[in-house]
Amino acid sequence: MKITLSVIKADIGSIGGHICPSQRLLETVERHVLQYRYDMPFIRDSYVGFTGDDIAILMTHTRGPGAEPIHKLAWDAFVAGTAEAKAQGLYGAGQDLLKDAFSGNVRGMGPATAEMEFEERANEPFLFFAADKTDPGAYNLPLYLAFADPMTTPGLMLAPSMAKGFKFVVMDVAHTDGDRIIELNTPEDIYDLAALLRDGERYVVESIWSRATGEQAVAACTTRLHNIAGTYTGKDDPVMLVRVQKNFPATGEVLAPYAIGPYVAGGMRGSHNMPLMPVALNSNISYFDGPPVVSCAAFAMHDGKLTEPADAFAHPFWNTVRDRVADKAMEMRRQGFFGAAMLPMAELEYTGITEKLHALDARFTIRGEAQKLQRRKVSAAGTG
Ligand code: 13P
Ligand code: 13P
Ligand code: MG
Ligand code: MG
Repeated sequence: MKITLSVIKADIGSIGGHICPSQRLLETVERHVLQYRYDMPFIRDSYVGFTGDDIAILMTHTRGPGAEPIHKLAWDAFVAGTAEAKAQGLYGAGQDLLKDAFSGNVRGMGPATAEMEFEERANEPFLFFAADKTDPGAYNLPLYLAFADPMTTPGLMLAPSMAKGFKFVVMDVAHTDGDRIIELNTPEDIYDLAALLRDGERYVVESIWSRATGEQAVAACTTRLHNIAGTYTGKDDPVMLVRVQKNFPATGEVLAPYAIGPYVAGGMRGSHNMPLMPVALNSNISYFDGPPVVSCAAFAMHDGKLTEPADAFAHPFWNTVRDRVADKAMEMRRQGFFGAAMLPMAELEYTGITEKLHALDARFTIRGEAQKLQRRKVSAAGTG
């Protein structure tokens, strides 16, 4: 059976700053999805959860990626949620709903999406990742390691079905006038791939495909909110779907890179480099509006019907990783605004620094320049 997985997520309001949605907000979104889903028999199943202050709606259906009724249902659920968020006085109510009216698809309207359609396997394990306080480039390194590095994924050597490698589709997210993409094949293009993925603010993995079978393994979100709104409207907080096992890396191979806790863009005011902490489903945000977090719900599916989610980062192993990430976070914060702690100018999502630098620019002088000018005036007067 051909099934589409669609995950659509948005920040529509949060308790106590940018920490987490309220119970009532979450229930409002969930209720809306369940209520209207039953008028749409092509929707096979749904799951609603949160990561930090972002609510994600996962739907399984038969309408393909970008399907209007699916996107409209999610949009309407977020609009209903926004009303509840306003009624409760939540912070940033409707934050990610950047357009007033729905027009066919949530793309370019604020919510983040990851979608893929495939012929369902006899058993269909997949992972649903959601991150908060960071942007889509956060998945670049974990995806590279899981799909292209045999040090992380022995399956690349051991499983004949993976021996041909994978095709990465990478998007240039700085290009706002249409989708600018490149396709790179691993293993032969790994140096080129690394050269792009190094810069996660500009180049983002959009999808990954098996070269042996042509099947899609990964669909990741490429939304950059500041490219939609033109100004800072919150971090992009990306979602991602990864099919696992058989022709794809095993679940453990896909999860392994998160033990690194790599520094990613995000944290406080979306303007810092902070380590990415793997957390349990439905976790909130705390230290320094961070650290950036990622959660992972593992599912099995049959005819589009989902099992309950298994919480991939709830295992005790990740407690040690979390301790290390907390240490890395505090270590970076010791240097405050200085150097690598804060993002480069182009990524600073507030205008304060640019305004300050502009004002200070007028106060700069070049030493000796005033005297030189005076001398020139005097000599000009002498010869006149
Ligand atoms: P299967 O051989 O059951 O697909 O599992 C392989 C595996 O996941 C080992 O990590
Ligand atoms: P969110 O994008 O998660 O709303 O975070 C905004 C922010 O600036 C946190 O400091
Ligand atoms: Mg927020
Ligand atoms: Mg968020």
